[in-house]
This record gives sequence, C-alpha cells and structure tokens, in this order.
Amino acid sequence: MSNIRTNYEKWYEGDSYYWGTEPADFCDELISLCPPSCEKKVLDIGCGEGKDAVYMASKGYKVTAFDLTENGIRKTIRLAKENGVEINAYVDDINTFETDEQFDIVYSTGTIQYLFDENKKLFFEKISRITRKNGFVFFNVFVEKPFLELPPDWDIEEKMWRSGELFSFFPDWKFIRIDETIFEDNSNGIPHYHCMDTIICKKII
Ligand SMILES: C[S@@+](CC[C@H](N)C(=O)[O-])C[C@H]1O[C@@H](n2cnc3c(N)ncnc32)[C@H](O)[C@@H]1O
Repeated sequence: MSNIRTNYEKWYEGDSYYWGTEPADFCDELISLCPPSCEKKVLDIGCGEGKDAVYMASKGYKVTAFDLTENGIRKTIRLAKENGVEINAYVDDINTFETDEQFDIVYSTGTIQYLFDENKKLFFEKISRITRKNGFVFFNVFVEKPFLELPPDWDIEEKMWRSGELFSFFPDWKFIRIDETIFEDNSNGIPHYHCMDTIICKKII
C-alpha cells in the first residue's frame, strides 16, 4: 500500500466504525428542508463508512454514495445491509468523478478539502450540472485560521480552504444557511480544534 492516498484506508480497517454509526446533525437539517420520498435522489460525496448515507436511505431517499477508500465502501455496503436498505455505493475520487444522473440533494461533509486547487472550478460546475432545479447542496469544508494549529490527524491530500471560499462558488444560488464555526474534536484521541465553513443552498435557476 505504498501509493496510499488517504490514511482513512487504514483507519477504516477492521470491523468497528471510526466515525461511529450515528448520523450527523446535518442530515436532520437536510430532511426538514427537503423531506424524503423514494423519488428523491441524494448523492453523498466522501461518504466514509456510510453512517449518513445509510441514515438517509433509511428515511426513504434513493442514495448514491462514494468514497476514495475501499474499506469505507465495504463498510457502507455492510451498514446498509444491516439496516435493510439499498445504496448505490462505490469507490471514486472527488477530483475526477463523473455521473450522468441528476440529484435533488448533493451532500458532502468533511471531504471537500480533498479537492485539488486545479479541480475546484470544474467540480463546482459539475455540481451545478448534476443538481436538479430547486435541488439543494449541503456542503462543509475545513478552513484555515492563523490562531488554530493543524489537527493531529490531518490527512495526506487534505488542504485547508480560505475562510468564505466555499460560499464564493455559489453566486447564483439561493443561500439558505452559511456559517463558520470553531469546534473541539477528539477523533483520534487527541483533543483539537477545527474551523468549518458550511453552506446550504438551493438551485433556483
Ligand atoms: C473526515 S472524513 C468524512 C467521512 C464522512 N463524510 C463522515 O462524515 O463520516 C473524510 C473522507 O474523505 C474521504 N476521501 C479522501 N480523499 C478523497 C477523495 N479524493 N475522493 C473522495 N473521498 C475522499 C476519506 O476516505 C474519508 O472518508
């Protein structure tokens, strides 16, 4: 595994769930803004071990999810089976993924910072293309602050974004919520802080 691109491949080894199986609060915001039905399609970009994707499928959305890690996708498929839901889950790269489908909701948490600089413009054009009219984007990204240290579990290809940068890619969308928060995290056993920008927006035109 010398060409490994993300440490998550080894952090997701074994049977336990690195991130647990409880969905993020972000999912409940998504459900209240765009209530589920079997017609509504969700794309989860960087789904990890599938906790949010499986939760959304259990609420009735038709879910597609991808992550760079084989172990993450193996567990996403297992978690879906354990919960009696179906998900279209596969290994893919946020930098190069392609799809012919359109989605009512495009969702990504904790993953956008893996986009290489040279792919950002094309990525957001793609997001606009694959989101249906009146569909929603739910995204967050880690942001650099001069007074915060780099987190101890910072990954190989992660790159901090500039404060507010994420919002600048959606000038023609209706903003439902944008914010920036600093929070404590203990994901690898060492308490540390993150700054995160979040956007929820709707494609009107
Ligand atoms: C902080 S975790 C978030 C996982 C999941 N969204 C969650 O909230 O549990 C970041 C995820 O990005 C994935 N990742 C890293 N590089 C990626 C890439 N180039 N394309 C897609 N996913 C990537 C990692 O494997 C990991 O699952």
